[in-house]
Amino acid sequence: MNDFILNESVLYRESLLAVSYVFEQKFSKKTIAYFSLANDRISLTDFESKTEFNRFRRHKFVNEKRLKSYPAVKICRFAVDLSMKGHSIGTFLLNFIKSYFLDDNKTGCRFITVDAYAAAVPFYIKNGFVALTDEDKDSTTRLLYFDLNDIS
Ligand SMILES: CC(C)(COP(=O)(O)OP(=O)(O)OC[C@H]1O[C@@H](n2cnc3c(N)ncnc32)[C@H](O)[C@@H]1OP(=O)(O)O)[C@@H](O)C(=O)NCCC(=O)NCCS
Repeated sequence: MNDFILNESVLYRESLLAVSYVFEQKFSKKTIAYFSLANDRISLTDFESKTEFNRFRRHKFVNEKRLKSYPAVKICRFAVDLSMKGHSIGTFLLNFIKSYFLDDNKTGCRFITVDAYAAAVPFYIKNGFVALTDEDKDSTTRLLYFDLNDIS
């Protein structure tokens, strides 16, 4: 990946709602991929029922860390140029995002979330993401999460 560079785009930054990153070829400046990130949380309303939320919390946290919601970062947009699909660039960038929040976790962020298009769900699953609920299994998008604690 030495021939590529990751730049922060100012397009969405001005409104402080999301930050976009553009992955481009160093010399030609051709855009190869982009993604945008925003703060998010995982909370009771994301689950089918309180029982499901409690199961999630029990499974991941000790009693004193069972909160009403957990900090997360959302992948709002994510795409790799068609000409470069299947060359592990998506995986490389997902790994970058994971380490970006693990290595310099300024505010506390436990999960990465994404409303994944149905066609992209297998890509995220291969990269360790898990469905939060079965409720959206036949929808056009599916809420998936990655637990950063799994690699710390
Ligand atoms: C989904 C996307 C980001 C994947 O990027 P990529 O660089 O092609 O992915 P990778 O090469 O890193 O693929 C990693 C693995 O996931 C698999 N994979 C990737 N896309 C897949 C798909 N749509 N369906 C099934 N498997 C897929 C690859 O075959 C590969 O498997 P392998 O490790 O067994 O070889 C890219 O295809 C894309 O831009 N799609 C259109 C936009 C989109 O759907 N974005 C997601 C928004 S939620």
